Amino acid sequence: MAEPNRVLLAGCANLPRGDGDEDILLPALAEVGCKAEWIVWDDPAAPIADADLVVLRATWDYAPRRGEFLRWCESVPRLRNPAAVARWNTDKTYLAELADAGLTTVPTQVVAPGSVPEWPSGEFVVKPSVGAGSRGARRFAAGDVAGAREHLAGLHADGRSALVQPYQRDVDANGETACVFVAGSYSHAFVKGPMLTGAAMDGSGLFVSEKVHTARPDDAVRGFAETAMDTAATVLRLRREELLYARVDVVRGDDGDPMLLELELTEPSLGLSLAGDAAAARLAAAVRELLDG
Ligand SMILES: Nc1ncnc2c1ncn2[C@@H]1O[C@H](COP(=O)(O)OP(=O)(O)O)[C@@H](O)[C@H]1O
Ligand SMILES: [Mg+2]
Repeated sequence: MAEPNRVLLAGCANLPRGDGDEDILLPALAEVGCKAEWIVWDDPAAPIADADLVVLRATWDYAPRRGEFLRWCESVPRLRNPAAVARWNTDKTYLAELADAGLTTVPTQVVAPGSVPEWPSGEFVVKPSVGAGSRGARRFAAGDVAGAREHLAGLHADGRSALVQPYQRDVDANGETACVFVAGSYSHAFVKGPMLTGAAMDGSGLFVSEKVHTARPDDAVRGFAETAMDTAATVLRLRREELLYARVDVVRGDDGDPMLLELELTEPSLGLSLAGDAAAARLAAAVRELLDG
């Protein structure tokens, strides 16, 4: 019998086996002849050279050292999603590129150190352009320019660019819909409740604890997510299918129209444990196809 392929799932020191979401992926990978194990991405002893594939999963500590993370990504012989995708996607300024390409995104000002934004008139958000797990994202009441300036100055003092966006009130009522794609095809979706409510951090310290539930997106959101995938593929000059996984986070504006909050191509939680075995099997089958291709 052929040796199983060796697939490494990349986590981080605080979450060396992720947050449990991939627990059902390991047996699904075994079903398709892959022996999967977790590694810590910055562990020099991780057996990268012996792997047939490394899959970014819970590398959620990269934000303060993105350069080091991207260099590591580039050093991995076979990484999904690939290093070039991670480079583009780990800085939320990609939102401007997608908007330029015609996609509706949450209106976003990118504020580099040394520059000042036009403060939105209503409630608004200031967050790092390189960030994950809601860390460093803060919500400000209309007119709270003093508080926002202070937060912005803190981000800038660390040399970080920030994004300023109007707060999308629909998130409070309906959350954001995360549409998950596997090898470019829609797989499943889940809804994440509002995060900027003063909720506590997870025990790992890497993300704000999330309230999630499964969801079937309506046609507008579902169609929008397809458009977002097509737009991203055009901007990245690749075929959708080349993205092993993708998550399109959709919110609705005051007019009810869907817009992009985030396109997660690096290390999104895929909600596999919520979606169940069929979703895990789809991802495992896509890994199999990649290894056979
Ligand atoms: N403009 C916004 N309007 C409403 N909620 C927002 C906005 N920006 C961020 N949030 C909230 O903050 C969370 C984290 O922001 P996000 O842009 O998704 O960054 P990340 O998940 O990478 O930390 C979101 O899940 C959402 O609940
Ligand atoms: Mg997010």
